[in-house]
Amino acid sequence: MSQFMFVTDLDNTLVNHDTEDDKALQELNHRLSQHRQEHGSKIVYATGRSSVLYRQLAAEKKLIEPDALVVAVGTEIYINSSESVPGEDILSGKLANPKGDNCDRDWSAQIATGWNRNTVVSITDKFDELKSQPDTEQRPFKVSFFLEESASERILPKLETELQKCGLNIKLIYSSGIDLDIVPKNSDKGQAMRFLRQKWGFVAEQTVACGDSGNDIALFAAGEERGIIVGNARPELIQWHSENPADNRYLAKNICAGGILEGLKHFGFLE
Ligand code: GLC
Ligand code: MG
Repeated sequence: MSQFMFVTDLDNTLVNHDTEDDKALQELNHRLSQHRQEHGSKIVYATGRSSVLYRQLAAEKKLIEPDALVVAVGTEIYINSSESVPGEDILSGKLANPKGDNCDRDWSAQIATGWNRNTVVSITDKFDELKSQPDTEQRPFKVSFFLEESASERILPKLETELQKCGLNIKLIYSSGIDLDIVPKNSDKGQAMRFLRQKWGFVAEQTVACGDSGNDIALFAAGEERGIIVGNARPELIQWHSENPADNRYLAKNICAGGILEGLKHFGFLE
């Protein structure tokens, strides 16, 4: 068994919100912690949540501490350096503070080109169908709304055209039939994964990403990394997967953490 880089989405991928039974999650946590200890594997969470909402979930579901945290759909990366004082970790809020001013600076610099938050806001203001998400989810490089699925097909192309007209280097990410994120074009979960992979020296074949919804497509589209789509994945991801088939991607039968375990065994990362 050799080391690997494990990247996972949280909501409805690692964490199942529909049950109190967390046996599969506990087993996965145990296997991953052990692998990290014995082989130096790395654990990365890649979520659409802000660090504020991440910490709530981490406490509630007793998540193990990751080696890096990718929040706000890939626009912020926090690396848990070994120099950090024990106890002052991501969960305590030191690494990922709500202002985001301690996130990886190289990454922030890389995605800042062509991004202008004020312009994005001034354009989105003109669309009544876009309902602002809570303040915690509005980030320096992420503007987020709720948009009803029934209106999305009509609104998204229009909005994109308006934003492009201003020469903005942006991308729209629509997930779960409700969440709309507007972020810099060169930032998403997949590009954040590649940034970490290169930083730590993992080849794509030793990297595996897991997800369930639209904002995870970037993880699976990144390249040769292994992909695990959990059994409860959303239609938008299943549809993308069937339109873009690839041998390095595995569609699990089991849901959430159970599906991740199944996929890790399929690829030979775990026995
Ligand atoms: C999380 C975030 C939200 C985002 C969604 C999809 O729910 O809190 O802001 O829109 O993920 O990326
Ligand atoms: Mg999810």
